[in-house]
Amino acid sequence: MPFDLPTIRSHFPALRQPTIFLDNPGGTQIAQESLDRLTTYLIHFNANHGGAFPTAQASDALLEAAHTAMADFLNAKSPEEVAFGLNMTTLTMGVSRALALTFNPGDTLVVTRLDHDANISPWLRVAEDRGCRVRWVDIHPEDCTLDMDDLRAALAEKPRLVAVGYASNAVGTINPVAEITRLAHEAGALVYVDAVQYAPHGPIDVQAQECDFLVCSAYKFFGPHIGILYGRYDLLDSLRAYKVRPAPDLPPGKYETGTQSHEGISGVLGALEYLEWVGNTYGQDQAEKYRLLYQGKRLALKQSMGAIRAYEYELTRALLDVLEEVPGLKIYGVTDIHKLEQRLPTFSFTLKGWSPRQVAERLGQVGINVWDGNYYALAVTERLGVEDSGGMVRVGPVHYNTVEEIYKFGEELRKIAATTN
Ligand SMILES: Cc1ncc(COP(=O)(O)O)c(C=O)c1O
Repeated sequence: MPFDLPTIRSHFPALRQPTIFLDNPGGTQIAQESLDRLTTYLIHFNANHGGAFPTAQASDALLEAAHTAMADFLNAKSPEEVAFGLNMTTLTMGVSRALALTFNPGDTLVVTRLDHDANISPWLRVAEDRGCRVRWVDIHPEDCTLDMDDLRAALAEKPRLVAVGYASNAVGTINPVAEITRLAHEAGALVYVDAVQYAPHGPIDVQAQECDFLVCSAYKFFGPHIGILYGRYDLLDSLRAYKVRPAPDLPPGKYETGTQSHEGISGVLGALEYLEWVGNTYGQDQAEKYRLLYQGKRLALKQSMGAIRAYEYELTRALLDVLEEVPGLKIYGVTDIHKLEQRLPTFSFTLKGWSPRQVAERLGQVGINVWDGNYYALAVTERLGVEDSGGMVRVGPVHYNTVEEIYKFGEELRKIAATTN
């Protein structure tokens, strides 16, 4: 069944406002299922771990269900490979410190110019602390794809770790993660994948991609503000986590420092229940593709993300058409319509005569939310030479956006372009 947008949108209370939400790469709106899990947790099950009383036991059971659901979403081998935390950045700071203990002075760590700073700075700090070398992998500035030749050259230096994004939060490029992990493993490196931007847009399979670590954030996929770490069990088990003594010695507990946002973790369960509903309702035509690989909830979640990816292709096409019509507008990233599978519907651009902030302000005044600046993808804006002029305007639909919204955005953008600033 094709997406029924009014029904999809009815699952998002925030969308009852007249606002056009194209600010999704900075955070999506929350699904009702997630909100319900959040409030139900706080009203009925609010307790700390391990108590001998019913609310604590119900709370622990819910947290376990959320780990299982997240393992289903990522196709992890077991729920023990999933740890929750404050956000992706904090989880990465923690794991990078644990990994740092295994690095030696002179070891090489690879980072890329396409990444969000949350998958760069933690490794720069590790390198500083441990006397490691940092090897930057460049991008092709003309279409903002990763320079795979440069990556191969970096791997020839036998790095210990490759930190790479699944998709760029700035320019929407999707990296060939399976190929990158294969090459990195051949070179003897571990791979740390930042899937924060990709997670709301397409299916992830950590086993097929052979990721060692993968991180994402539920507030980018229709849940609350909380981060998620996947790690291969043997790695999570063998690393020495920064933890307090009475906390569990085994994964995932050894990485879940302090008392977590239990309501947030329940909210993740709700967001995944929403996606499962999408998969069962609208993803049947994806079944053929995934049936042999997945079953049950895992199949429903893959159908869901497959259907979302297919629908978003329409949004990508519409957005590209709209942007290309605006005089004086420069798009950064993949624009070749034959290569759109290499990008998300996340587009960044500059408009002649207007600063990115001014464009975002004007759109904000007519109820259209877009971001401007560098969105912490500092390496990208520096590489593209736009950091000192206010970065870029970023517009990023997700599956609850409509083609009509894209056209409305285009109409308003053309009005701005036609006005002298
Ligand atoms: C690609 C990417 N990585 C990492 C982050 C940081 O995530 P968090 O806010 O969960 O720390 C973001 C946030 O925008 C992002 O887009």
